[in-house]
Amino acid sequence: MAAESFGAYHQQNRRAWDRLVDNKSRFAKAADDDEFENPLRTVDGKLNWLPQGVCGRELLCLAAGGGRQSALYAAAGANVTVVDISPKMLELDRLVATERKLKIKTVEASMDSLSMFPDAMFDIIIQPVSTCYVPRILPVFLEAARVCKPGGTYISQHKTPTSLQTNVEGKRGGFSIEQPYYRPQQEPLPAAPKSRLREEGTVEFLHRWEEIVGGICRSGFVVEDLIEPNHARQDAAEGEFGHRCQFVAPYVRIKACRSSVIGHSGQDQDDQASNQAGGLWIPGSS
Ligand SMILES: C[S@@+](CC[C@H](N)C(=O)[O-])C[C@H]1O[C@@H](n2cnc3c(N)ncnc32)[C@H](O)[C@@H]1O
Repeated sequence: MAAESFGAYHQQNRRAWDRLVDNKSRFAKAADDDEFENPLRTVDGKLNWLPQGVCGRELLCLAAGGGRQSALYAAAGANVTVVDISPKMLELDRLVATERKLKIKTVEASMDSLSMFPDAMFDIIIQPVSTCYVPRILPVFLEAARVCKPGGTYISQHKTPTSLQTNVEGKRGGFSIEQPYYRPQQEPLPAAPKSRLREEGTVEFLHRWEEIVGGICRSGFVVEDLIEPNHARQDAAEGEFGHRCQFVAPYVRIKACRSSVIGHSGQDQDDQASNQAGGLWIPGSS
């Protein structure tokens, strides 16, 4: 996709992530040798959310450039396509693919506009933390649902709304909620000091729980599992990431299955999402 066709927020995040690559951010690091020992275990961990493995599966790494996820899933045998808005993040994927002799297809695009892919192209979609960079989350889920095969798996990780609301530094050993939960539509969060929780130069948006979990369901997925990866460390000193995580879960990871029932009309109903369960198929309802 031509860079000029991205909106202003997307452009800003694209430039910010290119810079994060130049500055060797921890999120722009390729997988290392140890992680390639058992690549699927590295990415799927103890969760075992992909019990059949990924061998021969069409797998989309969505907004997942950087040479980590794409390379590990390809090493585990998947036919990997990685989409990212940052050309430099994608360059890392191509570098690792060459080094490790892996086949990885890279596509520069925004996660909310995947028109280059036909319907039902992928068996599995993996999306690391990234929905915080788009003002509207529902189009991302609708596109994921469109390109996912019925019965396919969508695993996504998100910053929790509480973490985005809460200050980073902490005061007197505790943390305070500083950002409203109900915000004007598409209003970015104020720029935050550089930290492990906020990537420098990016523009981020808070998506409420009903927009994250409800949005996944409304787009045509059935949520099968949900975890809050635990980064709390009891021995962490104040100011450390592990200390803040004792108070606030930074991330949520969600496993969803593409239903064969279409759950959403495709219209933009972001602002009317609450209280609109009518017409949705709910697991166990019949
Ligand atoms: C936290 S990184 C995820 C991948 C990283 N390799 C990791 O290990 O977690 C977030 C990614 O989202 C990408 N991104 C930001 N906005 C995007 C958008 N609108 N569409 C697609 N990718 C986007 C960034 O370029 C970045 O590569």
